[in-house]
Amino acid sequence: MSFAHRHLLGIEPLSPQDIVTILDLAETYVDLNRQSAKHADVLAGLTQINMFFENSTRTQASFELAGKRLGADVMNMAMQASSIKKGETLIDTAMTLNAMHPDLLVVRHPHSGAVDLLAQKVNCAVLNAGDGKHEHPTQALLDALTIRRAKGRLHRLNIAICGDISHSRVARSNLILLGKMENRIRLIGPPTLMPSGIGEFGVEVYDDMREGLQDVDVVMMLRLQKERMDGGFIPSEREYYHRYGLDAEKLALAKPDAIVMHPGPMNRGVEIDGTLADDINRSVIQDQVEMGVAVRMAAMELLARNLAAEPRE
Ligand code: NCD
Repeated sequence: MSFAHRHLLGIEPLSPQDIVTILDLAETYVDLNRQSAKHADVLAGLTQINMFFENSTRTQASFELAGKRLGADVMNMAMQASSIKKGETLIDTAMTLNAMHPDLLVVRHPHSGAVDLLAQKVNCAVLNAGDGKHEHPTQALLDALTIRRAKGRLHRLNIAICGDISHSRVARSNLILLGKMENRIRLIGPPTLMPSGIGEFGVEVYDDMREGLQDVDVVMMLRLQKERMDGGFIPSEREYYHRYGLDAEKLALAKPDAIVMHPGPMNRGVEIDGTLADDINRSVIQDQVEMGVAVRMAAMELLARNLAAEPRE
């Protein structure tokens, strides 16, 4: 099992084989996580530091559990109360932590590119837990594992990614991953929430949800990222729900066995109907959360193996 990367900064640098390697290893952790004794001590003795400069519930909890189940010493930095607030730069904070010899650094930051920059300054493995509108690689990997388990394959599927595409690192990482695995991707959303020039990426773009959902295997909904909007991107939430919110009626246009996904947190009644989100016959949203822990365990194990194989200083 080879995985020749020092960091996990995005899906972009990964080959299809790298992706399969992570997902296959993650499968073993799905099984482990379903047992009452959940420990596999492959990270025993290693230190994992989680630095979240943006609020997060599931991603941070997921990385923390993943590290603990693999036996690492896990520390969550309270970034809201950190020296960054006193004017310290991101790089100074990183260098300070680096001097404490962490092995794995998990970073979420509101600016695209900030995690890559930090990775150049430290001598441990860095995992990107979401940087601005850029990438969120472990989310795309957990989505891929969820799709592969539900559909039995991860290629030649019709996949619709719907909603606020332009502000979404989840959409971006998924687009890259699902493209590498040779799926047909449709992006559905209002033109105001569609990045310009996106058509060149070999995707089909729709602004009519009913048209775009025809015969898809997977419907991936996105949260309206209000915190990244500084103007009137949508007329009103009510109007948005009417045109782009996923409900049973719109879902009926997709394949009868199409699955519904959402990375969370959800705005119920804005981008998705609450009852549909909870319908375990269609929605795999809870599976996504479960796969998240397993995928993060796999990614951290693969990076830690590489650390062990090379001199650090
Ligand atoms: C996503 C994120 O933070 O980019 N959430 C997550 O990681 N579960 C999507 C979002 O915030 O809408």
